[in-house]
Amino acid sequence: MKIGIIGLGYWGPNLVRNFLAQKSVDKIVACDVKEDRLEILKHKFPDVEFTKDCSNLMDSDIDAVAIATPVETHFQLAKKMLEAGKHIWVEKPFTFSSKQAYDLVKFSKSNNLKIFVDHTFLYTGAVKKIKEIVDKGELGDIIYFDSVRINLGLFQHDVNVVWDLAPHDLSIMKYILSDKNILGVTACGISNYYELENLAQLSIHFEDDSCFAHFHVNWTSPVKIRRIIIAGKRKMLVFDDLENSEKIKIYDCGVDIRSTESLHNALIQYRIGDMYSPKVEQTEALNCAAKEFISCIEENREPLTSGSDGLEIVKILEASEKSLKNKSKLIYLNNNFEDDYKEKIQIHEFV
Ligand SMILES: NC(=O)c1ccc[n+]([C@@H]2O[C@H](COP(=O)([O-])OP(=O)(O)OC[C@H]3O[C@@H](n4cnc5c(N)ncnc54)[C@H](O)[C@@H]3O)[C@@H](O)[C@H]2O)c1
Repeated sequence: MKIGIIGLGYWGPNLVRNFLAQKSVDKIVACDVKEDRLEILKHKFPDVEFTKDCSNLMDSDIDAVAIATPVETHFQLAKKMLEAGKHIWVEKPFTFSSKQAYDLVKFSKSNNLKIFVDHTFLYTGAVKKIKEIVDKGELGDIIYFDSVRINLGLFQHDVNVVWDLAPHDLSIMKYILSDKNILGVTACGISNYYELENLAQLSIHFEDDSCFAHFHVNWTSPVKIRRIIIAGKRKMLVFDDLENSEKIKIYDCGVDIRSTESLHNALIQYRIGDMYSPKVEQTEALNCAAKEFISCIEENREPLTSGSDGLEIVKILEASEKSLKNKSKLIYLNNNFEDDYKEKIQIHEFV
């Protein structure tokens, strides 16, 4: 398979390295508009061809193209490559708007092309293990999903902290709680330095109101925290991505209420039992992601993280943005999105 990669800034070189490691990849052409990036990477990857112009990826014998450029450019580049008949890999967040995402999904489906959205965390050993534990019912009914992703982070120029960081945790949440339908989103945040928010908190409300999800993202924290708590009625799980060896801990603890007649009479009992840390596969997530991209093309099937999954995340990001601008108003997610957009999308509207 022959792969093109557009965007060789911070993230793109990781894609080059991981696609080079795939047995079925026999050619990589990498592209960046910046000469200095090409010069640096030519020495690092002598087997890769380089170009400054992404049009060279369109007429060559390239099968698929990965796009690792700033978010505001994703749609135009993705559309251009799909129109040239290429399968595409698009970095998170998939697009700048749900309309753009829907357009790409629709176009790819009618042309039998694959879209892979890089929700990298779904390919980590830790998230695969969490999915296994939750699906087995070990935690019992899930009552909340609480995520914190904060540090002194790199400010982005085109998107706020929600669009930059929350796709990771939202995609994990959607994957783990795949049986729950989202009703709506509330968000609050602050922009201390320029117009884009550097700190935000999102709450996800489900149709099943016995479960709740919360996300805290921040580029301006003095400490780095990457932690998700998933609480079930039976057991509770903590995923600390900064831990080297014990990333997941499962606590056999919880709360039992003996009588629910009234709060006064309720007998609240705390269960505090053992904790264990399951073994987690160590393979690099991007390597697994690259394998999945290649096999979904070879097997003509949807990838684990498809364009439709990317669209779902963009819908949540858009709703969060609306809520942020409307003093934390609850924004309902439109689950009949297809009907809304079916006739309205103009394929060339954004090109
Ligand atoms: N999956 C992950 O964990 C992860 C991690 C980091 C970044 N990302 C995503 O990767 C994307 C890129 O982020 P980054 O931090 O590498 O950005 P970056 O700004 O460091 O690099 C982007 C590169 O794209 C190049 N570029 C822009 N337009 C181009 C065009 N038309 N043709 C060729 N090159 C072009 C720029 O010159 C730059 O070198 C973003 O969508 C980001 O959200 C994903």
